[in-house]
Amino acid sequence: MIGRLNHVGVATPSIEASVALYRDLLGATKAHEPFDLPAQGVRVCFVDLPNSQIELIEPLGDGSPIHGFLAKNPKGGQHHVCFEVEDILAARDALRAKGATILGTGEPRIGAHGTPIIFVHPKDMGGVLVELMETPKQGAH
Ligand code: CO
Repeated sequence: MIGRLNHVGVATPSIEASVALYRDLLGATKAHEPFDLPAQGVRVCFVDLPNSQIELIEPLGDGSPIHGFLAKNPKGGQHHVCFEVEDILAARDALRAKGATILGTGEPRIGAHGTPIIFVHPKDMGGVLVELMETPKQGAH
C-alpha cells in the first residue's frame, strides 16, 4: 500500500518566516507561492526538496485546526507525514479492516495538491498523524 514519502507537514505561525528558515539555513532554493485553503482553515506553502516537499501550514481564520497545535507548540513543529498510495479508497478500506481509525467521515477530500487525501488517526500510528494521498502514477508530484 504505502508508496513514496510525498511531503512532511510543518505547522508554523508564519509561512514567510519558515520559508526564510528553509532558504537561509538549509539552502532550499524553491518555495512555491502560498495559497489559502479556506475549507480546511489553513494557508499552505510548499518548499521543494530534491526528493520530496515540506508543506508549511499556517492557520487561516478563527476556526483553524492549526490553532490548537500552535497553542501547544508556539514556534510550530512537525505536524504530519504524507505518503502516496495508488488507490485511496482501497487504502482506507484496508486500514479500517485492520482496525485503524480514519479521521472525519473517512470520505476522501481534495487536499493541497488537488488530489484525494485521508488522514489516519495518530493513536493508530504510534503518535504520528499520517496523511495518505492518491497518486496513481507513483513518484509524480
Ligand atoms: Co499534507
